[in-house]
Amino acid sequence: MAKVAFLGLGVMGYPMAGHLKAAGHDVTVYNRTAAKAEKWAAEHGGAMALTPREAAAGAEFVMSCVGNDDDLRSVTLGADGAFAGMAKGAIFVDHTTVSARVTDELYAAAKVAGLSFVDAPISGGQAGAENGVLSIMCGGDQPSYDAAEPIMDAYSRICRRIGDSGAGQKTKMCNQIAIAGLVQGLAEALHFAEKAGLDGESVVEVISQGAAGSWQMSNRYKTMLADHFDHGFAVDWMRKDLGICLDAADENGASLPVTALVDQFYKDVQKLGGGRWDTSSLFKRLRAMN
Ligand SMILES: NC(=O)c1ccc[n+]([C@@H]2O[C@H](COP(=O)([O-])OP(=O)(O)OC[C@H]3O[C@@H](n4cnc5c(N)ncnc54)[C@H](OP(=O)(O)O)[C@@H]3O)[C@@H](O)[C@H]2O)c1
Repeated sequence: MAKVAFLGLGVMGYPMAGHLKAAGHDVTVYNRTAAKAEKWAAEHGGAMALTPREAAAGAEFVMSCVGNDDDLRSVTLGADGAFAGMAKGAIFVDHTTVSARVTDELYAAAKVAGLSFVDAPISGGQAGAENGVLSIMCGGDQPSYDAAEPIMDAYSRICRRIGDSGAGQKTKMCNQIAIAGLVQGLAEALHFAEKAGLDGESVVEVISQGAAGSWQMSNRYKTMLADHFDHGFAVDWMRKDLGICLDAADENGASLPVTALVDQFYKDVQKLGGGRWDTSSLFKRLRAMN
């Protein structure tokens, strides 16, 4: 069992840190809003720290799951950042969805400090984190990945190293590109069913078993039809992710016309006040327009 720190107790981080504790690791958590860390420590019996540096002191592994590039910089760098507290040889594993650029930057900064950095973004949603069955796509040096994999096992169903540093984040971009058009397609199908006077539940019960089936369809149709979007993966985060994908495509020349269009649809959802709604709220946008 290892000494592990976990930084960021949001929708994903809170249950992930809980799985580490349940697996028997010695876990110290840090959260910007300390009340959440207090709640976590009371619920799981682990320790809490008031800064990332304090949480990381003495840890063999430091995991993070915060918001965006700047949030990740703020928990890693600077006087109170985790890198300042970590002992040489310790491994930082980042589960945040961020750009490949900040990953390059932190991989290099970690090297200078005698640390390792593994990019390890996640997929599987809130339920995947709560049930400990996330998909984790990783980039980084092979020995660091090999050491970290058994720790991530506490909350993953599949964990793979795709390549060198940044490969995990680029794989996550593929994931988000694949999801964007798919969720819009699902929203349009449910919208059409409603307009055609069909019972949406009956429609999905049949078509989810055929070629149109998907994780989004199986896991989201009930809440979509019930107009319930106060859960899951926030639209604000999705726009952050699609922005990362579109920037990367500008650099590597990939053509992402549908991703760009769906990004604009999510802008409409934000205007409806849905920045924190689940990404399946593309359906609510169609209902609002018609
Ligand atoms: N939710 C999903 O289904 C899902 C799925 C896959 C990947 N992701 C990715 O995982 C990451 C976290 O998502 P989430 O849904 O767990 O987000 P969330 O619920 O909004 O939680 C974000 C966490 O980051 C902390 N944080 C944000 N900015 C910070 C800063 N500057 N310094 C320190 N801590 C900071 C927040 O602290 P406070 O408590 O103080 O706000 C909170 O603990 C995102 O990159 C997201 O894109 C999410």
